[in-house]
Amino acid sequence: MSMQLVPVELCKGINGLEKVVLREVRGFSAEVYLYGGHVTSWKNEHGEELLFVSSKANFKPPKPIRGGIPICFSQFSNLGSLEQHGFARNRLWSVDTDPPPFPTTSSNKAFIDLILKPTEEDMKIWPHSYEFRLRVTLGPGGDLMLTSRVRNTNTDGKPFSFTFAYHTYFSVSDISEVRVEGLETLDYLDNLQNRERFTEQGDAITFESEVDKIYLSTPTKIAILDHEKKRTFVIRKDGLPDAVVWNPWDKKAKAMADFGDDEYKYMLCVEAAAIEKPITLKPGEEWKGRQELSAVPSSYCSGQLDPQKVLQSS
Ligand code: BG6
Repeated sequence: MSMQLVPVELCKGINGLEKVVLREVRGFSAEVYLYGGHVTSWKNEHGEELLFVSSKANFKPPKPIRGGIPICFSQFSNLGSLEQHGFARNRLWSVDTDPPPFPTTSSNKAFIDLILKPTEEDMKIWPHSYEFRLRVTLGPGGDLMLTSRVRNTNTDGKPFSFTFAYHTYFSVSDISEVRVEGLETLDYLDNLQNRERFTEQGDAITFESEVDKIYLSTPTKIAILDHEKKRTFVIRKDGLPDAVVWNPWDKKAKAMADFGDDEYKYMLCVEAAAIEKPITLKPGEEWKGRQELSAVPSSYCSGQLDPQKVLQSS
């Protein structure tokens, strides 16, 4: 008798924190912690982990989890008066049992809806009423989709503005073997040089030292080519014009308590974001920001994959 697959399971994760496990028939899986509304795992059909989570990550509130997909809301980085990257990544989200319908219905079974609303304490640091709905879906082909819907529910008639990022940590075989395609010739703000504006020159982005850049008005598709693993990650995004590329490299890695000294070699953050132009919502208005991740086998060196084709295909 064949075992019945449970596509969505709520269970206990590290340190007893609640997590949701999503499973697809072909063996793909993903895990989402209610703490932070934080995706901490995305595995392919061979059980290989596609996201990076530090071996030193704290799964202990109020520290955010180092790795996976932290949600940066309502502030990216230190661009405002809130704590670094805002508060959503260290709040306890709830399962949303009755989310408003999406305009398009899909037959996906492996998805979970989470919701974050402010407490009275939260209102003291960001005096706005909102509903943040996050849907995490594992597609039948293993794609991982995150859709955020933020609604202004202020009753005082006031609009609010926010910046946002899906701070995705991708697992890579060796950072020096990785290139990012799709950001060539774009303008960026360099976080390592007082956020001065520069224009990217030349070819795809490769890595040989610390990188911390906010690329502006980027295309909706970005590819991360991992030659050694023969794997390409494709990020498709909607409602998120910017893209942050971050690798701390050796010195910053050593300075982070929740990150191994050598782990910078095995990760790369490419973050679908809305930073340069904050999103403003009037009461009753809703914003939607979506990212879809896929991991495809590639053999760029042997010419099987033309990165331009990856970027141009729909
Ligand atoms: C990136 C920022 O998005 O996140 C970096 O561009 C920052 O400047 C990095 O160092 C990590 O931030 P944190 O708060 O998770 O250590």
